[in-house]
Amino acid sequence: MSGMFGDARVHPKHKSVEWYTPAWIFAALGLTFDMDPCSPHDMESMVPAAIKYTVFDDGLKRHWAGRVWLNPPYGPDTGVWVKRMAEHRCGIALVFSRTDASWFQAAMRSADAVCFLAGRVEFIPGHENKHKKSRCGAGTALFSWGFDCVQGLRKLGDRGVFLEMPKGRA
Ligand SMILES: C[S@@+](CC[C@H](N)C(=O)[O-])C[C@H]1O[C@@H](n2cnc3c(N)ncnc32)[C@H](O)[C@@H]1O
Repeated sequence: MSGMFGDARVHPKHKSVEWYTPAWIFAALGLTFDMDPCSPHDMESMVPAAIKYTVFDDGLKRHWAGRVWLNPPYGPDTGVWVKRMAEHRCGIALVFSRTDASWFQAAMRSADAVCFLAGRVEFIPGHENKHKKSRCGAGTALFSWGFDCVQGLRKLGDRGVFLEMPKGRA
């Protein structure tokens, strides 16, 4: 599976990753989460998660438990995080809609459902980006694993296109 998701090493200090999920996405999903393995270290995010790991904890090295919210660091690390989520199989991952990337195609094969949002999401800037406007270079897709998360993601369907994957597909 690692080949499909890519084998990039972790570069957690990259500043461009400090863009955060807006609250309306969680309100629309109607879900709370047990953990967020990649959370900002210097401000409170909007993520409704009981446990939040930051770059100083290294969320990739931690045990993942329960329903996970994943909006991973962008760039070469994305595939590593999405692979971990695909192995965990309980939660929702928000990623750039890079449909040609090997990690994206692997997530399409692994997830129970996907939602492609219409338009561009305005993400919340972290401190280092606070004077910048959210200029997302791609659309947003969310993948879900597990019954509750599929039901939650279905509620985002009116903001884009929701697809539930056929059971037992290869
Ligand atoms: C795209 S932001 C998303 C933040 C939050 N999860 C959200 O949805 O709003 C990714 C976050 O992961 C953090 N991060 C980067 N590498 C990490 C690591 N190895 N372990 C935990 N967090 C990390 C970054 O500092 C950044 O705050």
